[in-house]
Amino acid sequence: MKIFVTGGLGFIGSHAVVELLNEGYDVVIDDDLSNSSIDVIDKIKVITGKDFKFYQYDLCEEDKVEEIFNENEFDAVMHFAGYKAVGESVHEPIKYYENNLMSTLNICKSMLKHNCNNIIFSSSATVYGTPEVLPLTEECRVGGTTNPYGTTKLFIERILADIAIANPEFTPVILRYFNPIGAHSSGLIGEKPNGIPNNLMPYIVRVASGELEMLSVFGDDYDTPDGTGVRDYIHVVDLAKGHLSALKKALESTGVSYYNLGTGTGYSVLDLVNNFEKINGIKVPYKIVERRPGDIATCYADATKAYNELGWKAELGIEEMMKDSYNFILKQNEIDKFIKENNPTEEELINKYKEML
Ligand code: UFG
Repeated sequence: MKIFVTGGLGFIGSHAVVELLNEGYDVVIDDDLSNSSIDVIDKIKVITGKDFKFYQYDLCEEDKVEEIFNENEFDAVMHFAGYKAVGESVHEPIKYYENNLMSTLNICKSMLKHNCNNIIFSSSATVYGTPEVLPLTEECRVGGTTNPYGTTKLFIERILADIAIANPEFTPVILRYFNPIGAHSSGLIGEKPNGIPNNLMPYIVRVASGELEMLSVFGDDYDTPDGTGVRDYIHVVDLAKGHLSALKKALESTGVSYYNLGTGTGYSVLDLVNNFEKINGIKVPYKIVERRPGDIATCYADATKAYNELGWKAELGIEEMMKDSYNFILKQNEIDKFIKENNPTEEELINKYKEML
């Protein structure tokens, strides 16, 4: 079974590719490397011992997407590719609408043309806007998104649902992620944003590793137990496995379906810092600063629908999330040092990855 994975070298995409390859699927990746790194290819190959085809095309170019579909017969698409920086999307809305919507439309056009009807889409809890009730179920109202990035997720959900109405064979499974953190247990792949991280976990690990001085906690006057924001953090490996369950669902059903992928448990910013310090035995200096505009107090999932219908639930807890997030940054720093000191060939670097497994 052949799966087209867009954005397959990114944080969540790369973990999904590992799970797909481990389960024996044939994978074809497209990634324009706009927020990922080419060395993830070799890292995935070392982790899985499997090979795959890679394209570095811009999915906004319709003829390039069509070329990929002409060269491969896909059973399904996992669509991770998209810009995802909330703050940047506020300043550059056209960039976000153009990239995230055009790429999706091009993929859908080629899917219909080539009779590939199954798509798993990376959506986000952000489509619920400010929660009216908690925990959030899939029946909760969507809308009221507070930034163009979030609105692209909402629009794409709608586009996929409309295509499914017009084409009864078309089967989108929409996965609404809560807050993915953690990394593969090998430490070879994980989240490595370019520049200063926007999200909490990548920031914490950079403070812990000494690359950044201090974490800014955005507000301690929310209506939460300790006043800091509460989120539903989910281990990225659990999230990746959720995609395989969703794929099985897509292959055996029709019509659009929606699932929350979260753990159902909320942790505050300070819970996360305290757990990180305790589990990894390292201090994370922080200071309380102003609230970040657009942030909500609390957000966590009711993930029972995914369990009932997909047979999926998160297995990994806060301990693995904290340990694997930190292990990833330590391993990355070790690799960076090895590269700086040895200027290795690709083969030498692959051997280094193998040693680190
Ligand atoms: N936070 C800090 N300091 C930081 C970064 C974050 O205190 O340096 C706080 C935030 O205020 C929030 C919590 O940590 O309370 C989590 O913030 P993140 O930026 O890690 O995550 P968000 O919940 O804001 O956003 C995430 C994804 C979005 C997605 C959204 C959906 O990053 O892509 O969840 O709910 F849209």
